[in-house]
Amino acid sequence: MEQHLEVNEQGVWKTGNDRVPSPENVMGAPLESVQESDEDRSQTSTESLGGRSYCSADYYMPNDEAEQTRLSITHQAYMQILDGQLTMSRIPTDISRILDVGTGTGDWAIAFGERFSNCEVIATDIATFQPERVPPNVYFEIDDAKEDWTYTKPFDFIHMRGLTGAFSDWVAVYSEARKHLRIGGSLEIADFGTIKNPNDASDSYLSIYNGACLSAAAKSGKPIGLDHMEKQVLEAAGLSVVRSRTFDVPLGTWNPDPRKQTVGKMALISALEGLEAISLRLLTRHLDWKEEDVRDLYGKVTEELTRPGVRPSISCHFVIARLLPGYS
Ligand SMILES: C[S@@+](CC[C@H](N)C(=O)[O-])C[C@H]1O[C@@H](n2cnc3c(N)ncnc32)[C@H](O)[C@@H]1O
Repeated sequence: MEQHLEVNEQGVWKTGNDRVPSPENVMGAPLESVQESDEDRSQTSTESLGGRSYCSADYYMPNDEAEQTRLSITHQAYMQILDGQLTMSRIPTDISRILDVGTGTGDWAIAFGERFSNCEVIATDIATFQPERVPPNVYFEIDDAKEDWTYTKPFDFIHMRGLTGAFSDWVAVYSEARKHLRIGGSLEIADFGTIKNPNDASDSYLSIYNGACLSAAAKSGKPIGLDHMEKQVLEAAGLSVVRSRTFDVPLGTWNPDPRKQTVGKMALISALEGLEAISLRLLTRHLDWKEEDVRDLYGKVTEELTRPGVRPSISCHFVIARLLPGYS
């Protein structure tokens, strides 16, 4: 069920309720102020584990300040990879309505809203983050994308970035996207793969880390990895893949190309900060690891990845799928 949020004058998200008109109805109208109720707060209540806070009982990543900082750095890395663009898709200047699913800090949605100031940008997540400045055409809503989507007007473009591990049934989620795209509209999906270290032995700490996280996520029923970006998964939902691209991103500054060094610095911070964020809940909950064993492992992975002379990298994947005439 879609739950509406509003942004106050300082641009802070507030949980709303059914009394708050949807942005679909209030474009251009001032938003009414609504107090946060106990029931609202329960939507965004947190669970803690080893000093990290999680917004939901079943999503594996934390949503605390450290994670928000990491997401903002990762957002900058994605943009560097795309030469300063927000999307791999070419966006027409007269685009009028788009959706960012699982928006996180909202960095992408806000940047999109600033670039396309006549476009209505709806940004959804299961939790509230607190962006400081929000353009008037960007609307944040609490919405679980696993549930039926209840938007009443179709979107020209839907964006889903960094959502690996969020869903068990990607075909169902993409089917909702297809139902809410206009004919000819596009869905763009972006995600990073796992960290690679060339000449890595199968018993390296990185291999153990990657294997443990993949298997814990698979056991949880919400696999991490890139299977959700496969052509057949999108086609099963009635969408046609029109373009896909993979970038190999160096982690750190080992690549002599100055542009790759810039993205490499950001990607290394994101990757190292992500080691705990990705593994802590997955390994303790689904593989019964002790917290200290998880910390010990990712500490050793950090050491492996930052040793002089290593050349680690990570792949970054983009897929554009379109709703072609004939589907509805
Ligand atoms: C790794 S973050 C990526 C955030 C953002 N898309 C970006 O690229 O910066 C994943 C986000 O997905 C959100 N999420 C997880 N499960 C979700 C669901 N079922 N519906 C909507 N959002 C979800 C999380 O709360 C988190 O903010």
